[in-house]
Amino acid sequence: MTSLAYSFFILSLFFATLLNLVCSQLPDVDEYLFFFGDGLYEVGNTTNIINPDKYLRTYHAPYGTNFFNHSATGRYSDGRIVPDFVAEKVGLKFIASFQSEDDPYFTNGASFASEGATALVNFTGQVELFKEVKEIWREHIKNDTEVYRRLHKAVYFISIGAQDYINFAASAWRISEPTFVDRVVNSISDAIKNLYDLGAWTFAVQNVVKLGSIPYVRQIFNDSKRFREMLSIMAQAHKGVLPEKLEAIKKNTDKYPEFEYTVFDIYTAMDTMIDVPQDYGFKVVDIACCGNSTYRGQACGYLDYEFCVCGNKTEYLFFDGTHNTDAANGQLAELMWDKKYGFVSPYGVKDFFLNTIAIQTLLTEAAASG
Ligand SMILES: *[C@@H]1O[C@H](CO)[C@@H](O)[C@H](O)[C@H]1NC(C)=O
Ligand SMILES: *[C@@H]1O[C@H](CO)[C@@H](O)[C@H](O)[C@H]1NC(C)=O
Ligand SMILES: *[C@@H]1O[C@H](CO)[C@@H](O)[C@H](O)[C@H]1NC(C)=O
Ligand SMILES: *[C@@H]1O[C@H](CO)[C@@H](O)[C@H](O)[C@H]1NC(C)=O
Ligand SMILES: *[C@@H]1O[C@H](CO)[C@@H](O)[C@H](O)[C@H]1NC(C)=O
Ligand SMILES: *[C@@H]1O[C@H](CO)[C@@H](O)[C@H](O)[C@H]1NC(C)=O
Ligand SMILES: *[C@@H]1O[C@H](CO)[C@@H](O)[C@H](O)[C@H]1NC(C)=O
Repeated sequence: MTSLAYSFFILSLFFATLLNLVCSQLPDVDEYLFFFGDGLYEVGNTTNIINPDKYLRTYHAPYGTNFFNHSATGRYSDGRIVPDFVAEKVGLKFIASFQSEDDPYFTNGASFASEGATALVNFTGQVELFKEVKEIWREHIKNDTEVYRRLHKAVYFISIGAQDYINFAASAWRISEPTFVDRVVNSISDAIKNLYDLGAWTFAVQNVVKLGSIPYVRQIFNDSKRFREMLSIMAQAHKGVLPEKLEAIKKNTDKYPEFEYTVFDIYTAMDTMIDVPQDYGFKVVDIACCGNSTYRGQACGYLDYEFCVCGNKTEYLFFDGTHNTDAANGQLAELMWDKKYGFVSPYGVKDFFLNTIAIQTLLTEAAASG
């Protein structure tokens, strides 16, 4: 009896919440996600998805052939990328690119990520684009209290830094490697502080993969031990410094009282997948599925280069020289989502969406009990 009464109580709470949502004309899912950074988070970068420029390699096969009705969408994958899986877990379809016209008012957020973006040069530009979205929200919603409620509630995802280190290795910088790492992480930390000042409170930041292991790096540096080690050591240093800088922001409670963050350790997650591929269902972790030359590290999708494409993409960790397959991205999203796997700390991304998950669970339970 008690439990029945309790169920009714919970259910009425649920309908009250639902009613509330309808009355204040919120989106169907009251969650907001923003994505910043590089190609790992890019959801396409041109305005016209239906008839894209055929020379942009991610807008034609073999990109995108495993999902989205087998059509390319500008994502650097055979299918979905991590932001798509995270959106799905929150109960959303996809988060549109800032450049796309799919969702002109950016109902549940936007992605500003773009392949090749660096922390040192491009992150500030993405923050400028975020300011534009904020202005669009202010004009459209016409209620700054509500705009700030959404900005504060949103989760801000960041994947950046890998391209900075690759550029560093490929050119002659006159500063030491640790100094450079510090500079990269400082620029990430500065951008995060700027975002905080614009209303962003909650951040999920991933570090960078062990760069010496990725097919693109092995190929362009001719598998040079020196370059592979240098890049891996920098990625490892980045992994150490990033949480320290984020923790320093959090400790500065006078300036950033509401700041909250978690770090997804993609470095260790991918390194583990490379060490024990069978645990994750992969057979090939050193060579990309699509590309040219020894590691298929380059040229995937280019119309003016020859490249090959693997048969069974789900067996591969890398789709092209730097980006993961749909199969790998689904697993990475899961590792980022839940703290229990040990790759995300101090929170699982899931913990940032607890209200939504509670409602979804109630819905499922209500459906199950007839
Ligand atoms: C989109 O990506 C392509 C290829 O990476 C690049 O040439 C182009 O400048 C990008 N466009 C935008 C709007 O970022
Ligand atoms: C595939 O196409 C159908 C019918 O047009 C559409 O409803 C669905 O959303 C599409 N799926 C994806 C993942 O784009
Ligand atoms: C990064 O910034 C440089 C300089 O403004 C620009 O040329 C380049 O297209 C940007 N790259 C990306 C990926 O946004
Ligand atoms: C503005 O938004 C706040 C927060 O959602 C809400 O409580 C308030 O009623 C809204 N004001 C108007 C005039 O709609
Ligand atoms: C890799 O090898 C090619 C051809 O032998 C050479 O042109 C290129 O400079 C080498 N690159 C590096 C980073 O050693
Ligand atoms: C692979 O593709 C790149 C372009 O992305 C090209 O520069 C390189 O020469 C190609 N390598 C071979 C061995 O064809
Ligand atoms: C692709 O590989 C996966 C994992 O090894 C396997 O389960 C699946 O059956 C394969 N698919 C095809 C079409 O061979």
